[in-house]
Amino acid sequence: MVYSFPSSIGRARSAWTQLERDAFVLAGRVEEILEDGASGETASLSALIEAYELSSDVRVVVVDSTGEAVIGPTFDVGSDFNNRPEIAGALLGNPVTGQRESITLGSELFFVSVPVISGETTVGAVRITAPASKISGAVNARLMGLLAVAAISIFIAVIAAFALAGAFTRPIKQLTETSERLAKGDLGDRADERKGSREVRVLARSYNAMVDRLEGMLERQRGFAGAASHQLRTPLTALRLRLESAAVAEGRDRDEHLEAAVAEIDRLSRIIEGLLLLSRSEGQQVKRELVELRSVSEERCDYWGPLLAERDVQLEFLCDADTVDVLAVPTAAEQCIDNFIDNALDVVENGSRIVIKVMRTPGVGEIHVIDSGPGMSNLDREQAFERFWRAKGANPGGTGLGLAIVRQLAESSGGSAELRATPSGGIDAVVAFPRL
Ligand SMILES: Nc1ncnc2c1ncn2[C@@H]1O[C@H](COP(=O)(O)OP(=O)(O)OP(=O)(O)O)[C@@H](O)[C@H]1O
Ligand SMILES: [Mg+2]
Repeated sequence: MVYSFPSSIGRARSAWTQLERDAFVLAGRVEEILEDGASGETASLSALIEAYELSSDVRVVVVDSTGEAVIGPTFDVGSDFNNRPEIAGALLGNPVTGQRESITLGSELFFVSVPVISGETTVGAVRITAPASKISGAVNARLMGLLAVAAISIFIAVIAAFALAGAFTRPIKQLTETSERLAKGDLGDRADERKGSREVRVLARSYNAMVDRLEGMLERQRGFAGAASHQLRTPLTALRLRLESAAVAEGRDRDEHLEAAVAEIDRLSRIIEGLLLLSRSEGQQVKRELVELRSVSEERCDYWGPLLAERDVQLEFLCDADTVDVLAVPTAAEQCIDNFIDNALDVVENGSRIVIKVMRTPGVGEIHVIDSGPGMSNLDREQAFERFWRAKGANPGGTGLGLAIVRQLAESSGGSAELRATPSGGIDAVVAFPRL
């Protein structure tokens, strides 16, 4: 029955229970004394209660049915406790627990008061009181503990919130930095598509797709500018020659030169339109038109004949079919012929021969420009189609764009272009277009 006050609320609650239990045990022990007035028992019980009070820092009083103290080491035997509500309540047969100000001590105290019942009669009551400071001290300690736990929890929550916020905002910050670099013209950078939440990853993917598209558009724009300036050289030269000739000619000759100049201007604008179409197509197949390869090739031979003659180079035209109808991007066929002849002219000796051959096979119509120049190695023949690639010692006036444009025109038409080696060591430049 030794009782000591706990230092936590849970144990404080169990302390209440234990106080009640102690009170009921005492009630059981004093029942006989209150019923029979056994004075021998009273002395030994009084000593036991005194020891209990000392060890547990509580005070005990046992009253009889009239409310007078019978045992109470700290109270005078015979003192009247009827004015204590908890005693009055217990004498009515009900256990009472609670807190109130002590009449004798003037301080707050907790009490547990239980009836002593014999048979069906309440023969007295036992009350145990304890200073409020004992239990509120335990509660305060518990509260302090709770406050400490709350403070630590808040601290951990704040750290976690910062860490989480960082994890969420870091990928967005990186995306912002990447887009700022893009705004300054750096198109090589891409957002990390693996970091951040699902939404951020989706955003990074869309952003990268957008930059890819933007890069493609810029690339095509540059391509167009390069191709246009390259491909306009030949018609512009022809135009200049025609106008120079017209300036010194008279009568019908003059009219012929002027007509040819107008035709050259038409060709020039058609070439620009064709190249624009290619640059806007974004890699998709461009709308093609019906082209008759024989007549186009003959027309280009007429154009190049006089120029080659100036170098004493003979131009031979061969075609075993009356017509060779193919599908091609507008002006593609003539641009390919011009580039092939231009390249051949760069490498052939004066007095040699260039052959233009148009062929019709079951699937394609082909144009061959065959020269008797020094030829190229297998690797160079393939590399020559890369933009800006030029063989060592090639004509310094070239840009390395001609064959790249040829391949783009051929492939956009659904055909192909290649350089083949001839048995005599020269080059057979071939462009093939799908037949109608
Ligand atoms: N028939 C050929 N014989 C030998 N080498 C050739 C022939 N055709 C092309 N080449 C080589 O391939 C390179 C690339 O040709 P491409 O037409 O693309 O550019 P380019 O002729 O140098 O310049 P541009 O066409 O702008 O005048 C040439 O510089 C040349 O070295
Ligand atoms: Mg060229």
